[in-house]
Amino acid sequence: MTRGILSVLVMMGISGVTAAESVSDWRKSADTPQKLERLIEALPNAANIMIEVGARYQNLYWAAKQGKWEFTAYQAEELKELIEKLQVVSPKRAATADGFLGAVFPMLPETIKMRDWKKFELAFEQMRHECMICHGKNEMGFVQLPVPRRATSPVLNME
Ligand code: HEC
Repeated sequence: MTRGILSVLVMMGISGVTAAESVSDWRKSADTPQKLERLIEALPNAANIMIEVGARYQNLYWAAKQGKWEFTAYQAEELKELIEKLQVVSPKRAATADGFLGAVFPMLPETIKMRDWKKFELAFEQMRHECMICHGKNEMGFVQLPVPRRATSPVLNME
C-alpha cells in the first residue's frame, strides 16, 4: 500500500470518530414522548414478522415429518407468539389474527402432543388454509403458501 492511500485511510478513520461523537443520540437527548414515537417507528412491522412466520411454518412442517415432536411443539408456540406480536404492532390486523388463532389453536398443539403424523398433517393443512384466509382479508390474497419443500433451521439439516 502506498503512503498516500495509507494517510487517506488514517484521515478517514479520524474523521469517522469525530463525526460519530458529534451526532446527537435521540436515545439520550430526546424527551420521553419523542423517545416513545421513535420506539414505535422502530418496532418490527407486519412484513418483518411474516418473514419469520414463514420460516416457522417451514420448520414446523419438517420437524414433524422428521418426528422431532418437541421441536415441532416449540415451532408452533413461537408461531403463535409471532401472530400475537402482530396484533400488538398492527392493531388493524388484530381481529383477523384472532380469527386465525381461534381456528388453529389449540388443535395444532394437540395433534403434536399425540405425535401422530397423519393427524398433524391434517391440522397443518387447515392452518395453511387459515394463513391464506388471513392474507385474503388483508388485501394480500396473492401470498399463496405451498406445502413447504424444505426447512431453514440447522436443527433440521435440510439446506
Ligand atoms: C393476521 C393475518 C395474517 C395471518 C394469520 C398470517 N399472515 Fe402472512 N401476511 C399477512 C400480511 C398482512 C402480510 C403482508 C405484510 C406486509 O407486507 O405488510 C403477510 C405476508 C406473508 C408472507 C410474505 C412475506 C414475504 O415478503 O415473503 C408470508 C411468507 C406469510 N405471510 C406467511 C404466513 C404464514 C405461513 C402464515 C400462517 C402460519 C401467515 N402468513 C399468517 C397477514 C397474515
